[in-house]
Amino acid sequence: MLFNSQFLKTILEGFSDNLCAHSRNVCYLSVKVAEQAGFDKQQIKTLAIGALLHDIGKSCIDEGLINKPGKLTQEEFSMIRQHTSLGATIINSFENCEDYLPIILYHHERWDGKGYYGLQGEDIPELAGIVSVVDAFDAMTSPRPYQKIKTITEALKELQNHKGLQFSPHLVDVFEISMLNIIKDINTVDFYQEISRLIDE
Ligand SMILES: [Fe+2]
Repeated sequence: MLFNSQFLKTILEGFSDNLCAHSRNVCYLSVKVAEQAGFDKQQIKTLAIGALLHDIGKSCIDEGLINKPGKLTQEEFSMIRQHTSLGATIINSFENCEDYLPIILYHHERWDGKGYYGLQGEDIPELAGIVSVVDAFDAMTSPRPYQKIKTITEALKELQNHKGLQFSPHLVDVFEISMLNIIKDINTVDFYQEISRLIDE
């Protein structure tokens, strides 16, 4: 198995700090969504690896352009769009990588068919559809030079507003349930940590 955790760690270490953090967040949240949706172990593994690699093509594009504040020109936008095909070309140079390619190629498809390659609705590979929802959420809730950061509530509302347009309605709903569970878990952990700090110190 070529794409083991050590190899993936090495790839992530070659990313910029922003791309590394984004890839890890998208991987973590995508897996939570797939678990919530009842995907099997093999699909979840494929998703985890594909999500870590989904934006690998961006490592070939000038970081100044990726983080450019303000509106992009047509030419700049088309350069950024190439990160999906560049990423697929990079990963395609490895053996046994075909399961990850749909995630890398199609994570910018839209439910209404107005995405990068024009795939629509159920034709969009479901693992790529999960990454698409999670990718948008992480982009909205992470600091970026070109936007005001959104709260979790604002970002979830934004996803709901784009249900059936940009995103699969089903996957947005599953994502929301997954997020609520994650928040619940985090609250539980924080609560007991707080109790132990108060009692044990
Ligand atoms: Fe992307």
